[in-house]
Amino acid sequence: MSQILDTLTRIEEESEKEIAAAATLSEIQAGRVRVLGKKGSLTRLLIAMKDLSSEERPVVGKAVNALKQRIQELIKQRTVELERQEQADRLKQERLDVTLPGRRTVRGRLHPITRIFHRVEGIFEGLGFHIAEGPEVEEDYYNFEALNIPPDHPARDMQDTFYITDDILLRTHTSPVQIRTMKSQDPPVRIIAPGKVYRCDADISHTPMFHQVEGLMVDRGITFGDLKGILEIFLHEMFGASTGIRFRPSFFPFTEPSAEVDIACLICGGGGCRVCKDSGWLEIMGAGMVDPAVFRMVGYDPEAVSGFAFGMGIERIAMLVYRIDDIRLFFENELRFLTQF
Ligand code: FA5
Ligand code: MG
Repeated sequence: MSQILDTLTRIEEESEKEIAAAATLSEIQAGRVRVLGKKGSLTRLLIAMKDLSSEERPVVGKAVNALKQRIQELIKQRTVELERQEQADRLKQERLDVTLPGRRTVRGRLHPITRIFHRVEGIFEGLGFHIAEGPEVEEDYYNFEALNIPPDHPARDMQDTFYITDDILLRTHTSPVQIRTMKSQDPPVRIIAPGKVYRCDADISHTPMFHQVEGLMVDRGITFGDLKGILEIFLHEMFGASTGIRFRPSFFPFTEPSAEVDIACLICGGGGCRVCKDSGWLEIMGAGMVDPAVFRMVGYDPEAVSGFAFGMGIERIAMLVYRIDDIRLFFENELRFLTQF
């Protein structure tokens, strides 16, 4: 019996040391198994008790149970300590300095050209026009031939074209969308076609890539009066009712009669500046009544229907709306310029 009691004392001392030294929760768990587990040292002692006399057994039993409780208590305390320490470590590691200023996200904004596009589209949608699209890489046929500009026609010189092959080019205007639309649907037609166009052209009011919005309205009995009326509604909406508008006779192979539309230069107030070349006016679009030859090309009957078309330069409109005196500013992507809109 005294031998058993000695063993108990040894187990107690060892366990105390082990538990105190345990640095992690899993180390504690391993220690627990070593002493209290099925094959643990204390469990083995309990089994050995069967050899004791009936007087000895209760004495030893009491001592074993007391030790068992003590060890369990030690384990519990150490576990709480370790858990507390682990939490403290984690808090230290995950510490956030909430007083640090946050990273500012820079808000993007719409390019001024996009803003003008949205306004133009909004006005024409309000007038019942639908939006149509066509490719920027276009066939000579749609860009020129079907618009009544045969290969040897001098009007090809009006637009310095970027060719890809003899038959494929970067569209020089949005007018080919007129042809594509009329070839794919019967009258009546009421569309606008916004998009990029390309010409070998560069100065303060010309860039090699710019944007146009084409317009086309075809139905029975459409007159030049309808063209003027629609454009006046649009221009007054865009620039204000008091802005000067001028229709000037002009020529396009695909319209007859044709006009160019000027807006009183808002940059100099009409007094003359480098943008309007001292004329007080800025040309923003070409327009006219669809030429019967174009109708025949797309299979419409020029005796049954008539129509008007126009093509406006979006950068020119943006220059007037925002009072920008150099078209190239739109494409330099200079943030000090872009953040003003
Ligand atoms: C045309 O492109 C015709 N397709 C317009 C048209 C359509 C007439 C339908 C009749 C019927 P024009 O080459 O004049 O026309 O160009 C139209 C507008 O685009 C001009 O008034 C101008 O505002 C703008 N523009 C022309 N070239 C440039 C350029 N290089 N940079 C910026 N804007 C330009
Ligand atoms: Mg022109």
